[in-house]
Amino acid sequence: MLVDAGLTLIETVALDAHGEPVALNQLKVRADPDAPVMQRGTYVHRAHRGHRLGLGVKLTGLAALAEQAPQTRVVRTWNAIDNAPMLAVNDRLGFVPLEDMVSMIGELD
Ligand SMILES: CC(C)(COP(=O)(O)OP(=O)(O)OC[C@H]1O[C@@H](n2cnc3c(N)ncnc32)[C@H](O)[C@@H]1OP(=O)(O)O)[C@@H](O)C(=O)NCCC(=O)NCCS
Repeated sequence: MLVDAGLTLIETVALDAHGEPVALNQLKVRADPDAPVMQRGTYVHRAHRGHRLGLGVKLTGLAALAEQAPQTRVVRTWNAIDNAPMLAVNDRLGFVPLEDMVSMIGELD
């Protein structure tokens, strides 16, 4: 579906010693070289959090992006304001706040 839409997915997966996937990061690259690259999910399995795997998979993805799409100027990411670990990773990598987004979640009858 992504390929049909002219998108490339750069996916970084970290494996444990047994070859099981424990962390993931995805970047969505559009064909238009001026379009910002969009960050999709970053996820670390609960049992493996707090060991800088989140930082590791995100950094590895950005390194692959620099190699595969060196024309990239902007990577957009977003996260919940109370997600301290992800905010810490993004701060460390040099991301800066651009805009606030308010989401409201409710139940429909
Ligand atoms: C967000 C997530 C990917 C971070 O992965 P992680 O491997 O645990 O993170 P790291 O070990 O790289 O930690 C990064 C920083 O977060 C901070 N941190 C880690 N655990 C923390 C905690 N429990 N509370 C507050 N800060 C924390 C630390 O500052 C750490 O940096 P340091 O090692 O230099 O001190 C992981 O918690 C996760 O998968 N969460 C659920 C999915 C999610 O929210 N994804 C992001 C939105 S898509």
